[in-house]
Amino acid sequence: MIIDSIYYQSLLTDRIKNAPRSFIREILKTAISPDVISFAGGLPNSKLFPVSDFQKATNKAYEKYGVSLFQYSNTEGFLPLREWISKRYFEKNGWKIDSKNILITNGSQQGLDLLGKILINEKDEVLIEQPGYLGAIQSLAVQGARFISVPMDDEGVNLDIFELKYFQSNSKLFYCVPAFQNPTGVLYSSEKIVQLSDIIRDRNMIVVEDTPYNDISFTQHAIPSFYNHIPDQTIILGSFSKTTVPGMRIGWIVAPDVLMDRLIVAKQAADLHTDISSQMIIYEYLTMGGNDKHIQHICDVYSSQCNAMVKAINEFFPEEVRFVVPKGGMFLWINMPKSVSSLKLFHDTLAQKVAFVPGVPFYADGRNDASTMRLNFSCSDKETIREGIQRMGSVLEKMLNQE
Ligand SMILES: Cc1ncc(COP(=O)(O)O)c(C=O)c1O
Repeated sequence: MIIDSIYYQSLLTDRIKNAPRSFIREILKTAISPDVISFAGGLPNSKLFPVSDFQKATNKAYEKYGVSLFQYSNTEGFLPLREWISKRYFEKNGWKIDSKNILITNGSQQGLDLLGKILINEKDEVLIEQPGYLGAIQSLAVQGARFISVPMDDEGVNLDIFELKYFQSNSKLFYCVPAFQNPTGVLYSSEKIVQLSDIIRDRNMIVVEDTPYNDISFTQHAIPSFYNHIPDQTIILGSFSKTTVPGMRIGWIVAPDVLMDRLIVAKQAADLHTDISSQMIIYEYLTMGGNDKHIQHICDVYSSQCNAMVKAINEFFPEEVRFVVPKGGMFLWINMPKSVSSLKLFHDTLAQKVAFVPGVPFYADGRNDASTMRLNFSCSDKETIREGIQRMGSVLEKMLNQE
């Protein structure tokens, strides 16, 4: 028998054969070079990781927990950490969430995977923002979800289209990122959340509210949440990736009792439990004091980088581009004239040693081009941002003039 790639292909499940590749990862392969200015990544700025505080927290964890750092642990997660999360929800939002309704996951990305496993049957319909978070599109696609896309406007998903698609489809899940969405940076308005909650309330629908950027806020705007209006129909995904460190992979899910029971079974089947030493170290870091000050520092740095990008876009991009100034998060989303292919623009700007992510992969409807793009501002300093945007501006200008 000849073992070749066709043979291996034939072994694959339909689920994985049909799942989209991480386009960003593919594209970044071409863009990773020290002389390329990259707005393509989606990483937190590693210069801001609180390394020495983590060193102290690690030493403390070694002294305090000893061998327990290295032993198997329970599936639900380290109880003091779950209690810390519960207390924080109460202090910040006045929510009373019992620690039994919090499951620690391997990043919030695992939360998505587990939710897909317990809620999605093959071909189940899921309402999703368009453009939407690529990791959610990929994760839910692997579970066999069919996406019903609802376009975003400047304050969240378009309400009329949401209502129409909700009633036309059999969707039982709505996945959204209400604060500083990836990829658009949009913060939902409180009114929008109230109106959407009114549509969803008491109907056969669960909202999955993904909140990794909630604390990365540049203004005093209130962060709206479905949990304030329809708590029994809201599942929250949380993460320490953007406020502390992403590499330890600590996230969590907040879910009602019955769903939590099934999530714990799914988590057990997936990996027994999340790395206990990381949970203990993060807990020691959080309770050392200084976490809020650190988050404020991240917000200040990202806010000034975001301002630099907005200023440079206003100066160097053609007048026809449209964008919403982000109030937080790590991304800025650009709408260009319809005639501009973001894929062609990507190749032309890469020739000028600047990279970004073309809008295409963020659309769950499978289109193969778009006149939109995502720019990341968390990882470049202000001078680099100005230089990169200036180079992009000249390429864009040239493209528009050639029409
Ligand atoms: C909206 C959204 N959800 C989830 C994640 C994954 O976060 P985590 O590191 O907690 O898995 C990201 C990461 O970029 C994200 O942007």
